[in-house]
Amino acid sequence: DEAERTERIEAAKAELGDDVVILGHNYQRREIVEHSDFIGDSYQLSKEAAEADAPYVIFGGVTFMAESADIITDDEQSVILPSMEASCPMAGMAEALQVDAAWEEITNAAPDADIVPITYMNSYADLKAFCAEQGGLVCTSSNAHRAFEWAFERGDKVLFLPDKHLGENTAHRLGMQENMAEWDPWDPEGKDAEQVAESDIILWDGYCQVHERFRVDHIEQVREEHPDAKVVVHPECRREVVEAADRAGSTSTITQTIEDADPGDTWAIGTEIHLTNHLARWHPDVNVLPLCGDACMDCNAMRQIDPNYLTWVLEELVEGRERNVIEVAPEEKELAKVALDRMLEV
Ligand code: 13P
Ligand code: SF4
Repeated sequence: DEAERTERIEAAKAELGDDVVILGHNYQRREIVEHSDFIGDSYQLSKEAAEADAPYVIFGGVTFMAESADIITDDEQSVILPSMEASCPMAGMAEALQVDAAWEEITNAAPDADIVPITYMNSYADLKAFCAEQGGLVCTSSNAHRAFEWAFERGDKVLFLPDKHLGENTAHRLGMQENMAEWDPWDPEGKDAEQVAESDIILWDGYCQVHERFRVDHIEQVREEHPDAKVVVHPECRREVVEAADRAGSTSTITQTIEDADPGDTWAIGTEIHLTNHLARWHPDVNVLPLCGDACMDCNAMRQIDPNYLTWVLEELVEGRERNVIEVAPEEKELAKVALDRMLEV
């Protein structure tokens, strides 16, 4: 039962002491964040990983986050992902080989342009390496606008991967929405060379299947039922949802919004359900609602990190066995680090 498991986790953590640090993404289950040394968004956790001295970093999150932690930490440190099944489907929507082929078509469509690729943190290490090689960088939802500014100081077009909604929302934030093209690698008709040549921003056709499910009528309904409610959503939501909301931002911006709310305020949250539940638990004086009522916006990838797996990897470490170590290939690691360092600098 949970009490027994909590005892085992705490005992293993006590045994390991400063040798282990547990990072928990905001979307992790309560039973994971309760045992985490740091809880945060993907940008904050990448910074915590970079600063961690512990030889073992256990990542409560998904594969691309653990890969990024492995890239940023020292070679002697091991990054452990409690379940190898925790893979973000959006990251899989832009595979490096496929992007490589598309890059040739896109650069041929605009032969005189200087195109800078930006990949969202939600991507695998080989794509981050590709972006570094082509003069680009990584961003998260909390610094995408700064990454765009960085890119436009160095080139005249941006290819943004894999999340078209974050790309579009960022273009709007910068007032650059007039000149956008989409690139759908799965549809020959979705690759318009002429449009690419004319656009400043090219959006890869990827998306998050959790955030894409939020709709404007969810916002209308919550406002009807709670006339004083304000709405905050993640920028992975569709453009029209972000536009209809009162505020949009990364999971740390959403957290901050509730921390800054006055007692009695009502906020409806459009993001993965676990963060909404944590905020409701942590701030009982604020009326925190999930934007879409009972429809469960649950991320399957994040959910793979079962607390029993956390117990297992910790107890194995106590026995001297490192399980589920995430190791990025050395040739990719070096280049991907360049793309991540550029992000940490902007
Ligand atoms: P954050 O960067 O806001 O933490 O979001 C990560 C993520 O996976 C959103 O779906
Ligand atoms: Fe990926 Fe969406 Fe899950 Fe975030 S919420 S990890 S983007 S599938």
